Amino acid sequence: MRQLFAEEKLKPLLIKLAMPLFGELENTLVMKPLLSLKNIMFKPSQYYIMRLDNLENLKALPTVTDYHVRTYRSGDERAWVQLIKRSFGQYFPDKVAEICRNKEFDPNGCFFLKHDHEFVGTVYAMQTQFQGVKTGCIHRLCVVPEHRGKRLGHFLALYALNYFRKTGLQSAMLDVNENNDAAIKTYASLGFKPI
Ligand SMILES: CC(C)(COP(=O)(O)OP(=O)(O)OC[C@H]1O[C@@H](n2cnc3c(N)ncnc32)[C@H](O)[C@@H]1OP(=O)(O)O)[C@@H](O)C(=O)NCCC(=O)NCCS
Repeated sequence: MRQLFAEEKLKPLLIKLAMPLFGELENTLVMKPLLSLKNIMFKPSQYYIMRLDNLENLKALPTVTDYHVRTYRSGDERAWVQLIKRSFGQYFPDKVAEICRNKEFDPNGCFFLKHDHEFVGTVYAMQTQFQGVKTGCIHRLCVVPEHRGKRLGHFLALYALNYFRKTGLQSAMLDVNENNDAAIKTYASLGFKPI
């Protein structure tokens, strides 16, 4: 843990030191292999925006035995942060307190998946404006590693889409990291397309 922390602290410093050097050498031909290395090391990953234009034809929500969904209750913040850290990684900025304080926060669209008494997944179905239209936005979808591969991510995303439809929205969107195969597959199988 301490080592990871040190790496996180050191990375920006290394980038700061190395970037001017790469900049200086950019125009020399012999630098080509090094420059490709630079691109691999420092290129930030891209995010896709994916959109589902129509919520009319959603698949039926499957029953998931041994799991149940409930909406946010005051005091869930700690469990929410833990879910995010366990699922996205320790250093993912959790922003949960910020989300809950926001006057637009909709507790009825914030879903937790529980197994026995444990929180094992979550999705926040929030509303946003997209190209001037009120749109559902799937946010912070995650399932803890021990419960993955059981279509629970798919279930939670579909749960969020059903909520959007119930609240009168007609479309949904989200953003997803280009390297996140599991999430992209989940969204694509629900009809989301990159835009
Ligand atoms: C994305 C996530 C929620 C998927 O949860 P999951 O319950 O394991 O996924 P599911 O079992 O519902 O699988 C859904 C689809 O993804 C595919 N999939 C699951 N894990 C995969 C992996 N590691 N690589 C490629 N595809 C994968 C499944 O085959 C399935 O595809 P299908 O619908 O075509 O059959 C989970 O991996 C997670 O919490 N990741 C970390 C947080 C995150 O990145 N969230 C998304 C933010 S946009």
